Amino acid sequence: MNQEVPQVTVTIDGIRVTVPKGTLLVEASKQIEKEIPVYCYHTKLGPAGLCRICLVQIEGVPKLQIACNTPVTEGMVVHTYNEKVDDGRRAVLEFLLLNHPLDCPICDKGGECDLQDYSMAYGQGASRLADPKSSKPKAVDLGPTIVLDEERCIVCQRCVRFDDIITRERSLIVKDRGAKDIIATATDEPYRSNFSGNVTELCPVGALTSKTYRFKSRPWDLHRTKTTCTQCSVGCQLNVDQRHGNVLRTMSVPDDDAISDGWLCDRGRYNIGYLNDDRRITTPLYKQDGQWMQITWEDALELWSDAIKKAGPEETGVLGGGRLLNEEAYLLAHMFRAAGVKNLDWRAGRQRQATPGRTGGSFADLENAQVIIVAGQSPSEVAPVMDLRIRKAVYKHGAKLLTIGAYEGHSQVPATACNTIADAVKAIPAGTQRVALVWDGVDPQRGKELAAALPALDSISMFIPGEQNNSRGAEAMGMHPLFGPGFAPTAAGRDFAGMIEDARQGKMRVLSVFGANPVLHYQDGVAAREALQKTGFVVVSDLFMTQTAELATLVLPAAGGFEKSGTIMNVCGDLLPVHAAMERPNGALSDLEMIAGLAEALGVALPSAAELDDAVIKTVANANLQFSFGDDSVCGAPHVREAQKDRGRHGLHVCTHARIFSGGGTVAHDRAIDDLRPLPEAAISSSTAKHLGIETGDCVDLEGNGRTMHDLLVEVRPNLPEDVVVLIAGLADDPANTLGDDAVAFVVNVRKAGELEPAGAAR
Ligand code: SF4
Ligand code: SF4
Ligand code: FES
Repeated sequence: MNQEVPQVTVTIDGIRVTVPKGTLLVEASKQIEKEIPVYCYHTKLGPAGLCRICLVQIEGVPKLQIACNTPVTEGMVVHTYNEKVDDGRRAVLEFLLLNHPLDCPICDKGGECDLQDYSMAYGQGASRLADPKSSKPKAVDLGPTIVLDEERCIVCQRCVRFDDIITRERSLIVKDRGAKDIIATATDEPYRSNFSGNVTELCPVGALTSKTYRFKSRPWDLHRTKTTCTQCSVGCQLNVDQRHGNVLRTMSVPDDDAISDGWLCDRGRYNIGYLNDDRRITTPLYKQDGQWMQITWEDALELWSDAIKKAGPEETGVLGGGRLLNEEAYLLAHMFRAAGVKNLDWRAGRQRQATPGRTGGSFADLENAQVIIVAGQSPSEVAPVMDLRIRKAVYKHGAKLLTIGAYEGHSQVPATACNTIADAVKAIPAGTQRVALVWDGVDPQRGKELAAALPALDSISMFIPGEQNNSRGAEAMGMHPLFGPGFAPTAAGRDFAGMIEDARQGKMRVLSVFGANPVLHYQDGVAAREALQKTGFVVVSDLFMTQTAELATLVLPAAGGFEKSGTIMNVCGDLLPVHAAMERPNGALSDLEMIAGLAEALGVALPSAAELDDAVIKTVANANLQFSFGDDSVCGAPHVREAQKDRGRHGLHVCTHARIFSGGGTVAHDRAIDDLRPLPEAAISSSTAKHLGIETGDCVDLEGNGRTMHDLLVEVRPNLPEDVVVLIAGLADDPANTLGDDAVAFVVNVRKAGELEPAGAAR
């Protein structure tokens, strides 16, 4: 299989370089650090041959050639600069600048613009054009995230090709031709994509700019920190640009081939406004007689430690969600276990397992799989850049995608929907050697069936994209009721579902919640709310007054993702560094500092910083992963809902799926992305819709679990299973988990499209 690629040797500007046969000249020249200017070419998009700026001279070829679309051949002699090449590039630039406005001083790209840079390097410095430049619309609203300046566009088509080749969403086009050509959407609808921000980075000029960054800064005034995105379990590497303590933008790391493939999703790119939001909590808050009081950190730690001492370990519980860094999760588990507390868990949502076991995989394995099976929610909304890998595997490498269950239909990847795991196994073509399994970690029974049903291929790779970014790290670091760090068995405690039941029965006296918002995300939001209300002392560490924090006794102001350093473990099990890019607000502490403060108050000794770093590295390296999907010892028993009576009506099984911009914490507290949050909707299959007499655009109410969700926009999706309704999880204003995930609900009150405005439709 591993065939040797023949090598060829070429001479570029007098330097010999040997590269695999077929390498493009533009890539070969990078190996000897010779710059060939490009506009339309991009390593990930390939050649287009549109702009001609990459002209070079090849000995023996009479005309200048474009380096971006010329593969090297043995013995080729190339000149990337000489008089002839310079003349050619000068002419190309003169053409590109004919109608280009001279608005560099007010252009956001100024200082990092390829047109500016190449004009300085290769241009002639003056225009010979006597006629006025043609004018086109400026500041065109292309969609909720992007502004287009049509005059600045050089029609390199990188944006269009990204939308075509990488996302395959194909909404962007070049409209009209010649001097009139402009970038637009094919349907004239706004440009919407979970990956829209990438086009602003790809655009070599200032034609496409992000609404969140326009007119904020000059690039030379920014301070850049390379770190890991902590918004989801992919762990994309990204550059954080801040100025005067404000994060103004995040940018991709183009050579991050192993993880992000050089892309970012819009959540990782745009959800940064929360850091400086005026709703952030910056002082510990204590609730007395229903009123919040600001208190000092010393008082907060004393109140907290006193409550734990009084309650005793049996009636104390800790929820340390996957938003914690590894070091924080490790220390949290270590500290509470040392204090005798056994009730520890990270599972604040629906997910029951985060670590796939001994047969995990890398993103390269996912991309190269011949068959990809996605069971449960697709990663398209919870781990978006992972979905780009799946698209690449399907479209570029011809992988077959099989889906089981209520697959989120927003990713347009052609898939074969299978009703059962047995159907999926049958659909695997004979001779398939490389299979990738992606499971949402929610239903242990489904996980178990998947693990048992699939052929025991060595090259099978398994992934569980977490509901939170560091779910896998929190699980491995010992925030689990049955395991210590590295899955070492430990004295068993209650999992979070058990803690909720204990609390509802009045048997939980202190609950400490870190990096989690169970009232919004737990499978049964009503049960979570009741549990917190019945717990004597609830401590919540968070950036904002979330739905869970509102029910707390003590709220501790926490540092955000770009304000602390440590590591996370992504969906592939990679240990990734997180570097602080800015100071945290005065008054906030990192979770690690809070835990250290509590340990001191409780008289628990903690490892030193160096010992902690070492422990995390060893934990990752030595984790004993002898389990697989759905393993009972990892998943435990899921929360069981009380059965509802259907009263003779047509019941729908409720599935709640997160969206890229749903969530009650950083997303709900970022005003710059208000327009990106989805409206509540109810997605159902075509046959269910037909049976109920409703169609896309209608508005319904859903009743279940003793409450009614109002004004849900119906969306009919052909690939959903029958009698399932998929609701958007984590919408702060109308949480679907109060209706209940895995519950039965009934459509009441149907309003046909156009009859009644759904709530919020005006937004
Ligand atoms: S908008 Fe930018 S990326 Fe798109 S074609 Fe124009 S110059 Fe190229
Ligand atoms: S896919 Fe995840 S890690 Fe990557 S940019 Fe988006 S939110 Fe961040
Ligand atoms: S970069 Fe070669 S033609 Fe555009």
